[in-house]
Amino acid sequence: MTDFPIFPPSFEWGCATAAFQIEGGALEGGKRPSIWDDFCAQTGRIKDASDGLVACDHFHRFREDVALMADLGFRHYRFSIAWTRVVREDGSPNPEGLDFYRRLLDALHDKGITPNATLFHWDLPAQLQRAHGGWLHRDTAQRFAEYAQIVARALGDRLPRVATLNEPWCSAFLGHDLGVFAPGVQDRPSSLLVAHHLMLAHGLGLQAWRSVRSDTQLGIVLNPELCDPASDAPADIAAARLAELERNDVFLNPLFGREWPAEMIEQIGAFAEQRRPGDLAICAQPLDFIGLNYYTRSIAQAPQSAAEQRRGYRFVPPDPQRPDLTHIGWEIYPQGLERVTRNLLAKWPLPPIWITENGAADNTPVEAGGCDDRLRLSYLQSHLTQLAQMVASGLDIRGYYVWSLLDNFEWAHGYTQRFGVVHVDYSTQQRTAKASARWLQQLISSPQT
Ligand code: NOJ
Repeated sequence: MTDFPIFPPSFEWGCATAAFQIEGGALEGGKRPSIWDDFCAQTGRIKDASDGLVACDHFHRFREDVALMADLGFRHYRFSIAWTRVVREDGSPNPEGLDFYRRLLDALHDKGITPNATLFHWDLPAQLQRAHGGWLHRDTAQRFAEYAQIVARALGDRLPRVATLNEPWCSAFLGHDLGVFAPGVQDRPSSLLVAHHLMLAHGLGLQAWRSVRSDTQLGIVLNPELCDPASDAPADIAAARLAELERNDVFLNPLFGREWPAEMIEQIGAFAEQRRPGDLAICAQPLDFIGLNYYTRSIAQAPQSAAEQRRGYRFVPPDPQRPDLTHIGWEIYPQGLERVTRNLLAKWPLPPIWITENGAADNTPVEAGGCDDRLRLSYLQSHLTQLAQMVASGLDIRGYYVWSLLDNFEWAHGYTQRFGVVHVDYSTQQRTAKASARWLQQLISSPQT
């Protein structure tokens, strides 16, 4: 029999998904396109030229998926609400779209599963991008606050815990500096202005939500960076530090009313004046929780190309021949979960923490009705062993959501990378629980101290 890591009885166990990655139903119930629909329509953007039009068809199969979560023992479910489904082009609520989430929340309630909703998991309404340049435009933050208020009014009574943004670093820097995520812009100063507007949206969103309800636990989900230098050379050490400033300080400083580091203000260039004096106070709304997503660490080196010079670092990807990588090529580094959490706690006064995502790409196929995803299983075992030690040592971490319940649309990788503990056959939409799901099921039901 396996020995399971031990967690306190109050520890919350959940699984996570996001709207664009699983829902499909892209043209139903008055849903509008998002910037990811536009991005997928551009040649060469998505590895397998796929899109999110059907995805896991969760829009039609949500009851089956909720039943699956319940069977696997999850008592908590993190999902995202699609802005494009619940708000019409004129800014008014879309009752049909809101009804979908009401039905989902009913199904979760019936199974005793507590929802944890994220308002923005990267799927900005395309119209805001086409008409105004999306997050480059300050007004988009205001639009987000209006959307938050619509959700608070319509669904707030059933949502005990809500996060404004998921991994805003990805929207800002993958979307506007590297250009590998929607909307595919490549301009360093723009990415910093976008980061600022996202944090403004977070602050305005919390204010708007709290103007409607005071009983929701509100927070944000970040993907903090743990970046080690490639060598002891001072230039590599400086590069690793800059990578962490971009990923951590740009988002965490405003949350606690602190100005960005000088290096980041310098990089925003001429856009600096668009950061207004009162903005920091808006970003620094009280937080009830913070969600941390952790997958791997990075290694940085002194910059070489002109684009890297502008950033101040270059990432060194791990040698693909190494045995300790997941199928997407990310290093398996469980100690990083503890290192990054302690780094953050040493620098910022974090509220209670939930690990809102952790998991591995393991593309093992289904055979004879089962899926022996050993790589994912061992990844989860090592990370949860690490997490159990962290919790036992007194860190205020209250729960864990595995990414993901289902195999799904993995952004620029399309459907080529499988992160689910449940396999999805995309031609039949059949769901098959993998070995990792069965292990989690046993862990969740094992005696806790
Ligand atoms: C983080 C993102 O929030 C999620 O959407 C993505 O699928 C996983 N990382 C895996 O890359």
